[in-house]
Amino acid sequence: MEIVEVGPRDGLQNETAPIPTNTKVAFVDALSATGVGEIEVSAFVSPRRIPQLGDAKQVFDRISRKNGVIYSALVPNEKGLDRAIEAQVDKVSVFTAVSETFNRKNINTSIEGSIDRFLPVVKRAHSERLPVRGYVSTAFWCAFEGKISPEAVISVVEKLINIGTDEVSISDTIGKASPDEVKRLLDLLLPKISSDRIAMHFHDTYGRGVENVLASWHYGISIFDSSVGALGGCPFAPGATGNVATEDVVKALEKKGEKVGVDLQTLSQARRLLDPFLIEGRRSLPKNGSPACAACQFSTREVCCQR
Ligand code: COA
Ligand code: ZN
Repeated sequence: MEIVEVGPRDGLQNETAPIPTNTKVAFVDALSATGVGEIEVSAFVSPRRIPQLGDAKQVFDRISRKNGVIYSALVPNEKGLDRAIEAQVDKVSVFTAVSETFNRKNINTSIEGSIDRFLPVVKRAHSERLPVRGYVSTAFWCAFEGKISPEAVISVVEKLINIGTDEVSISDTIGKASPDEVKRLLDLLLPKISSDRIAMHFHDTYGRGVENVLASWHYGISIFDSSVGALGGCPFAPGATGNVATEDVVKALEKKGEKVGVDLQTLSQARRLLDPFLIEGRRSLPKNGSPACAACQFSTREVCCQR
């Protein structure tokens, strides 16, 4: 099992209060100690679009890299790749969507336009020996276009595979997928693309993140994106809340007998580093310092075991 911790990128990109670079560095360093195999550290996107991640290079410069952990980042175009290479990332992720409307709002181009943009990015990343992930956002529902068909998703996945992306992460951007919809997609996708090249990326808006992870796990998927404390959301996808919580994914997979190798206590220590900078409802500890929930110690709606 491979957990891709996306909290520092997907989690923080939606936080409006500025988080100091040093806190982000401490957060990533703490995540390095948890046992996760990959950490999505930041994004080399337009800092005007995502101001919170404008310090991507400084964060990469200051983190202490742990052997065996992959430190990755989002890259939307060649300019982003230049910046990512300079920051010595281990892996880059290009990102597109099945919804044309969402793509326009998020990356200011169409699906075809994004693939054209990515082609030179993938080529050069590979010549620098960097593996490339491709994200397929809005793979189940879109805030603007509604239900997305599995056939349309598969067409975008195939486009990304055809330009050479090593791995594709299928993303339920607004967190509205049901396990049945996950199964329907994987029934059609996995005969075409091997399951070891597919990651699943769920948001927990409707509280179904863990069910969807387990539905995918039954299909042999072994790479899951999640964020500690269910941080997250996309500023260009109205209504989207956090990623499925890393803590919940680890617990659910371990219950199925999988060895995940991620330490829950170290995860919660990492999450607490952010507390002073998050709005009250997103803190793991309220201001008085005592855990909001005696059972799971979380106060965030998405994470508390008593939700
Ligand atoms: N890093 C830093 N700056 C960048 C950049 C990058 N990767 N790509 C473009 N820019 C700058 C350009 O230099 C230009 O600056 P200028 O106006 O000072 O000359 C400006 O941004 C516009 O460049 P352009 O190539 O026309 O980009 P665009 O306006 O079409 O935007 C993206 C395209 C992809 C760069 C932008 O939409 C973006 O960053 N989106 C990211 C959204 C995101 O991260 N969403 C959350 C993840 S799901
Ligand atoms: Zn609880």
